Amino acid sequence: MTGTMSALHAEPRFPAQLRAFDLRRTALLRTDVLVIGSGIAGACAALHAADDGADVLLLSKGEIDDTNTAYAQGGIAVVRRAEDSIAAHVDDTLRVGNGLCDPEVARHVIAGADTAVEWLERLGTRFDQDDGGSLELSREGGHTHPRVAHANGDATGLEIQRAISEALREHPRITVRPRTFVRDLIVRGGRCLGAIALQNDLELAVEAGAVVMASGGTGQIFRETTNPTGASGDGHALCFRAGARMVDCEFVQFHPTTLYIAGASRFLISEIVRGAGAVLRDRNGDRFMPAAHPMAELAPRDVVSRAILERMVATDDTHVYLDLSTVEGDPRSIFPSIARICGTFDLDLARDPIPVRPGAHYMLGGAATDLDGRTSVAGLLAVGEVAGSGLHGANRLASNSLLEGAVLGRRTGLVAAAEARNPRTELPRSGGDARPNGPRPHLLHEDLLYSLKSMMGRQVGLIRDARGLAEARSRIGFWNHCLVRADAQDQRACELANMLTVAALVATGAAERRESRGTHYRSDFGERDDDAFCRRIYLHREEDGSIRSTAGAVLAASDRQQA
Ligand code: FAD
Ligand code: SIN
Repeated sequence: MTGTMSALHAEPRFPAQLRAFDLRRTALLRTDVLVIGSGIAGACAALHAADDGADVLLLSKGEIDDTNTAYAQGGIAVVRRAEDSIAAHVDDTLRVGNGLCDPEVARHVIAGADTAVEWLERLGTRFDQDDGGSLELSREGGHTHPRVAHANGDATGLEIQRAISEALREHPRITVRPRTFVRDLIVRGGRCLGAIALQNDLELAVEAGAVVMASGGTGQIFRETTNPTGASGDGHALCFRAGARMVDCEFVQFHPTTLYIAGASRFLISEIVRGAGAVLRDRNGDRFMPAAHPMAELAPRDVVSRAILERMVATDDTHVYLDLSTVEGDPRSIFPSIARICGTFDLDLARDPIPVRPGAHYMLGGAATDLDGRTSVAGLLAVGEVAGSGLHGANRLASNSLLEGAVLGRRTGLVAAAEARNPRTELPRSGGDARPNGPRPHLLHEDLLYSLKSMMGRQVGLIRDARGLAEARSRIGFWNHCLVRADAQDQRACELANMLTVAALVATGAAERRESRGTHYRSDFGERDDDAFCRRIYLHREEDGSIRSTAGAVLAASDRQQA
């Protein structure tokens, strides 16, 4: 009985590698720079590293267009109007970040927006233009000015991904291998030397002068999410297992408006729809955002998401409604992709209120990086959604993510190319722990995944407390213990192991932060507490596989930003 109880209440512990490898039985590739991910961050890093003379191998677990980037709707933030300024964009970013942004990173990224957008245009991205031939700019939540450049109305990501995928395919120094799943990073003597991947379930080892992790988001650890199925947080788990310091993992941004129809995928209804005048109403037709925040429907996302949740509870409903009848012009022509998807459910954007509720959208936490994309592990760089660069703090300003991928992707790619010019260390011949002894539990992976996603939504989602977080951590610990014993073999099992790891990181960060700030809300510590928590929380893997947390320095009062 005691043994069962202790396993059921296990402290989450994670192996350094999911499986052992042996190079005698594994194909070996060598490259200057290995890039993991073909979204905006990975593509920008790869293209700039290759332009700088490095040979680049880029792996993506799906087709190369299968990224969160391709799903982006609203657009990419850039200052172009005379009445707007870089300083105003920086201020908006810091204010929404609730005291935890790194102001130097924010200034660098935002100042680089113009060049990044021009570079994307040179690659062939066609952004929407106004009658005068200038970029057409929309407004989104938290922005004090219209500054969101978009393409084909509401399909910005698809257009950017089209252009970058084409550039990747055409570049003579870049080899792209789609459908290749990176399972483990190889680290020796504190340096990342390469990775082990699976292609058609066969192992492939890659030896590289520098590894750039650009693996995107983690939305799939929640039942309600805007993210496509590939967003299982692999890179977050890979970096953590490799020993990298992780940061800001408690901050998960929920987007207020995902289409909510039982059985349908949670398609995003972009914030530019509210930017164009759409309003939220409950089942009685009452607007509730003006009473919740002075910016009403354009308040920061955490505020709108929690207001929706509260209204769902108050009206005993599973969702609220987005009313587009207040939009100037025909919403069907302004938002063609959203209109098409809603149309498949017989919902007419111009006439019908659209059922919506919040869904996990963006992971703010990741491998802690400096401005050059360096993590705490030598030879391992990270960029895009997998990185904790300090740009977003405790909440992300809309349309700053594509921007971050483009600006920091360039810088990280150049640093990786320089790093790869140093002499390379050979991969060890073998490595990793043998599978634990004892009988293998028979696990139904889909069932376990469903339990994880439901629990994350209930206990580690928009509203958290100490009890729910402690229980979540111990359940994850037990599930992970079973999965390790069952021996993850194929890609799906590895993704599940990664999702459990990321879930544990989120729950641990959330338990440590005993206050409410930005996307992180604790019902038992409802106020922001600058004296104790105006600092970042770092997590790393201990030798025994457990998660250890350390608090960063308290930010100076002059650097604290108010929401
Ligand atoms: P991704 O674009 O997600 O690319 C990840 C890559 O990593 C993929 O190629 C994947 O195959 C690869 N990968 C992952 N794991 C592995 C593995 N184990 N092995 C090999 N390859 C792997 N942001 C904005 O700024 N503006 C918007 O308008 C906007 N709208 C959004 C709408 C939706 C519906 C969603 C989901 C997100 C939106 N975002 C938006 C957020 C933004 O799209 C993402 O944060 C950004 O695109 C992430 O880019 P990335 O390059 O870091 O990762
Ligand atoms: C949206 O279009 O609402 C998403 C924008 C973003 O996440 O930055």
